[in-house]
Amino acid sequence: MSRELLSLVRCPRCRGDLILEGDPPQALACRSCGTVVAIRGGIPRLAGDSYAASFGRQWNRYDVLRPEEDEATFRVKTGIAATELAGRLVLDAGCGGGRYTRLVGAHGAHVVAVDLSTAVEKAAALCAGLPKVLIAQADLLDLPLAEGAFDLVYSIGVLHHTPDPRRAFAQIARRVKPGGRLAVWLYRRNTVPQEWINTGIRALTTRLPTRLLEPLCAGLGALGSIPLLNRTLSKVVNFSSHPDWTLRVCDNFDWYAPRYQSHHTLDELKHWFAAEGFADILELPPAKRGRLYDWAYDHDLIVGSGVNVVGRRPSLEARSPR
Ligand SMILES: C[S@@+](CC[C@H](N)C(=O)[O-])C[C@H]1O[C@@H](n2cnc3c(N)ncnc32)[C@H](O)[C@@H]1O
Repeated sequence: MSRELLSLVRCPRCRGDLILEGDPPQALACRSCGTVVAIRGGIPRLAGDSYAASFGRQWNRYDVLRPEEDEATFRVKTGIAATELAGRLVLDAGCGGGRYTRLVGAHGAHVVAVDLSTAVEKAAALCAGLPKVLIAQADLLDLPLAEGAFDLVYSIGVLHHTPDPRRAFAQIARRVKPGGRLAVWLYRRNTVPQEWINTGIRALTTRLPTRLLEPLCAGLGALGSIPLLNRTLSKVVNFSSHPDWTLRVCDNFDWYAPRYQSHHTLDELKHWFAAEGFADILELPPAKRGRLYDWAYDHDLIVGSGVNVVGRRPSLEARSPR
């Protein structure tokens, strides 16, 4: 376990410094208030899972690592290639099963990756053998990590699954160091009828037991292999059309199981960046292009598409008075 990365972790109760206990490490103890944080499976447990159990199940059950696709997706959704991150200090905010953590860590970045759910166990397994990666179970709404420390903070498809995305945004934004970058991808708000339909369907699916929801998601996975339905029905009822069966079923579960799922506008997300003091705020375009797709995307018609923004925290020199 990297001591350098552990030095960025703070006491979840008082934000005091933590010291390692045991050999091999079994706990972190706060020097100030005495709080003890368990380390289980090599993972500091800074928070318990309060509402994200479906994610723990999803990421531990489905093997979604697809290195080439992950590399391309990471580049599109952060605006930076993983190969450019060697030696940089990176925070993966909501790492899930760790597909992007592993990618960035394998390219030589020093990575802290946090998630609220037991998905951290899958992430830790994927990143075993990467000594510069620290996986922690922690809550983005109350993040016990050093402020102003990271060269890059990215959060892909996470904040909209919290009960307070704006607060979670502020928490991760404050971990970016002066001159560092923040990249955030959130679900896009669709047209009013699409939002109504989705809210209605999810009101049912989020109440279904997993033993019923999983076969339903597999059924939708079958629909996703039919091109005509992908071009028509999927504009009303969301289901994945990914060419890979496992990813389709996992994507469907990811959409219909989580308790919280909010949708956002581009202006809203850009405003959050500005309010947290970021500069060079830019929209990142989606990977998929084409005249029809671009038109539908710009009119908020693509269910499951995103709003994706990057920004830079101004360096200290830029902010100091002349
Ligand atoms: C759709 S997954 C995305 C995972 C990963 N970024 C990826 O793209 O593979 C959303 C993740 O957000 C995590 N999450 C939700 N609320 C959280 C919170 N308050 N703190 C930390 N993680 C949270 C969930 O546990 C889940 O793993």
